[in-house]
Amino acid sequence: MIRDPTHAAHDGRPPRRGLPNLGLGVGLRNQHFPHLMRHDPEVDWFEIISENFIDNFGYARRVLERVAALRPVVMHGVSLSIGSTDPRRVQDFLERPLVLENPSSYLEFKDSTVEEWEFLSELARETGCGLLLDVNNVYVSAYNHGFDAERYVRGLPHEAVVQIHLAGPTDCGRYLVDTHDQPVPAPVWELYRLAQELTGGVSTLLEWDANIPDFPELVAELRKAETALGGENPGAPVRKSRAAAAATVSNPVGFQLAAGDE
Ligand SMILES: [Fe+2]
Repeated sequence: MIRDPTHAAHDGRPPRRGLPNLGLGVGLRNQHFPHLMRHDPEVDWFEIISENFIDNFGYARRVLERVAALRPVVMHGVSLSIGSTDPRRVQDFLERPLVLENPSSYLEFKDSTVEEWEFLSELARETGCGLLLDVNNVYVSAYNHGFDAERYVRGLPHEAVVQIHLAGPTDCGRYLVDTHDQPVPAPVWELYRLAQELTGGVSTLLEWDANIPDFPELVAELRKAETALGGENPGAPVRKSRAAAAATVSNPVGFQLAAGDE
């Protein structure tokens, strides 16, 4: 959800699902609070994890208020359990479309009869919700399950995609793990370029949640999106880390798994 949906679109194009293209953004993280209190944000918009700011009236709220006065802030909820088997009545209650994100995953349901992108496409068509296309999650799941990442991205209803996530996973051997702890690798930039070609251009967010670099370095990584859209791939291969494989990894759609079974 956008804090201020009337904020001018970054590219002057009409909004999708009522949501404009905000340009290039990053997640608001504690490590950057001192920097952001002293400097112009340098990015087009911020994402916050909504739950981190509920009933929070301390320093973090002051930082949020300063940032929100300068840039659009998008709220990303991770605790709604929207993917349950219960009827999905949340949009009716909120009277606005939700934007739902494709997950990264490490196992599949044996009885599944549709591809994930087919399920998301149907979901968007039937409910009118928007899609947050995390191209890193597509890459991670495609690697782990052996499906074609490009076919996944091409198969989605592109008119429903209102935002794209970028991040760097970790190569743990048999699996890629969605760690958000390193630069965006070359295959993810390639999917990003394809997704932006198919969508015509939507809001882009760089996720970096562990081994977080200083803010200028984060901004430099984000700006590589412009290089990628210019036709040059700015990425390197995925870095390997056996240490990361032993860690508990948080997934942005709200479930957790213990990685490192090899
Ligand atoms: Fe994401």
